[in-house]
Amino acid sequence: MALIVLAADKGAPGVTTAATALGAVWPRPVLLAECDPAGGDLAYRLPAADGGVLNPGRGLLTLGATARRGLHPDQIHEHSQKIVGGLDVLAGLTHGEQAGGLTWLWGPLGRALAAVPHADVLADCGRLGGHPELHDLLAEAALVVLFTRASLDHVAHLRERLISMGKGPQLGVVVIADPRQYRDSIDEVRRIIAATGREVAFVGGLAHDPKGAELLRGQWGGRLDRSLLIRTARELAGRLAAHVSPPERTPEPGGRISAPGVVERSRSYGD
Ligand SMILES: Nc1ncnc2c1ncn2[C@@H]1O[C@H](COP(=O)(O)OP(=O)(O)OP(=O)(O)O)[C@@H](O)[C@H]1O
Ligand SMILES: [Mg+2]
Repeated sequence: MALIVLAADKGAPGVTTAATALGAVWPRPVLLAECDPAGGDLAYRLPAADGGVLNPGRGLLTLGATARRGLHPDQIHEHSQKIVGGLDVLAGLTHGEQAGGLTWLWGPLGRALAAVPHADVLADCGRLGGHPELHDLLAEAALVVLFTRASLDHVAHLRERLISMGKGPQLGVVVIADPRQYRDSIDEVRRIIAATGREVAFVGGLAHDPKGAELLRGQWGGRLDRSLLIRTARELAGRLAAHVSPPERTPEPGGRISAPGVVERSRSYGD
């Protein structure tokens, strides 16, 4: 199904947090793939579905070792793990140095992720600056979503990134904004994007919600489900999923965190 890249220009606006929140409430089967060349975070942040710890060594690195002999979309499932709530994750590199030996991987990985059957893929690509080899993966995406905070420095970097990206995959922008200035912040970023002349197909928002971000790192449950982060993530997930797939293929949003440690979803990736 669709490959959606989630990334930032620089700084740490909250891409991994957003990727996790979106994965938790995605309305269709989904795989969260940590494709940040600087290394993954999820194996250290979140418990496994059975309450144990994730194996940080199983994921992109083990997939990369087999990919030299050719990479088929079905192989990706063999290297993914289930985290809390039943979300399927392809864990990232354990440290950034590993990316040096894997510059060839991003193109084949992008092609394989875009061809994963029966699931959308959310690929957390981290910060785009300094990793030009990631563009081979970006080229395979249905949509590249750039995350920004609403502050002047973040938006200035986003603006420069948009101008420098030239023609390529469809772009989206998501503003992580203080709930008190939510609409104003998104409108302001919309105006700045328009002034660049770069076509941006999707603009949305996600709440800046430190409490929600903290809850997302623990055992998922009702308090997280009611947080602003998850409520805005649910709306964003519904819009993004509808954007990358024809509306008739988009079921009603169904993935919701309804009880501690449980994400209800119609069908999980790999089931
Ligand atoms: N929506 C949010 N609301 C409040 N705090 C957030 C939000 N998203 C992220 N944070 C906080 O910001 C910090 C960075 O978050 P995160 O790791 O998701 O960013 P990132 O963009 O993936 O960073 P990096 O580029 O280093 O991987 C964390 O402390 C996290 O709790
Ligand atoms: Mg990150």
